[in-house]
Amino acid sequence: MSTRLFSFRGGDTGRWRVTDMAARAGAPLPAASRLDIATSAETPSDPQASWVLRGITSNERYVERGERTEIVAQQLELGRPETTRAALIAIRKNDAWWALTQDERLNIFKAQSHHTRIGMQHFPTLARRLHHCRDLSDHEPFDFLTWFEYTPDQEDTFNRLVAGLRAIEEWKYVEREVDIRLVRDEAYSLDDAALRSQIL
Ligand code: HEM
Repeated sequence: MSTRLFSFRGGDTGRWRVTDMAARAGAPLPAASRLDIATSAETPSDPQASWVLRGITSNERYVERGERTEIVAQQLELGRPETTRAALIAIRKNDAWWALTQDERLNIFKAQSHHTRIGMQHFPTLARRLHHCRDLSDHEPFDFLTWFEYTPDQEDTFNRLVAGLRAIEEWKYVEREVDIRLVRDEAYSLDDAALRSQIL
């Protein structure tokens, strides 16, 4: 079983409470009040779930050595107790994006859009994980599941970053985007092991 494969399950149970779910482009997802994340080894089959989104971490496509060094030096780990806010932003790009060659995509991502630079300018310490979906099957509803964790006082900074990214050239290729905001309740973080046995 791959430990790079993650499932995001929206429904009535889960460690994260959904505070907002907005379709910024394309179709929304069905309503969910809570969210849980599982790795492949523990992926539950849950007929009660409103939806389950799957994604796999992968090699980087657009990062140069210098950027990698800078990102690794600044970015914080996921799962810190104080990061009680999170965002799951699910993104699908259009056929025009996927019809481009890798060098054309790189040119848009980097030279025309400055995606990484904008991220590092706004929020270099943001804890994040990028999941790819396209290689899992032909039927995944999104191409990417992007996951971010931050503290409550960093909400505005995160919102400014996302607004900045939505204005770049790369985002013209985004045909579906669902932005889900979450809060980790204290009760759920107190005893993770007990919780997992209850809900998985
Ligand atoms: C500190 C903030 C951020 C940094 C440093 C950052 C950096 C990066 C980097 C380096 C990549 C390329 C990975 C690769 O080489 O394959 C990437 C990809 C991506 N990022 Fe960000 N990012 C940030 C925030 C965000 C946010 C807030 C979103 C969503 C709103 C986002 C959405 C994406 C998506 C969808 C991709 C995949 C693009 C593709 O492969 O076509 N990023 N990001």
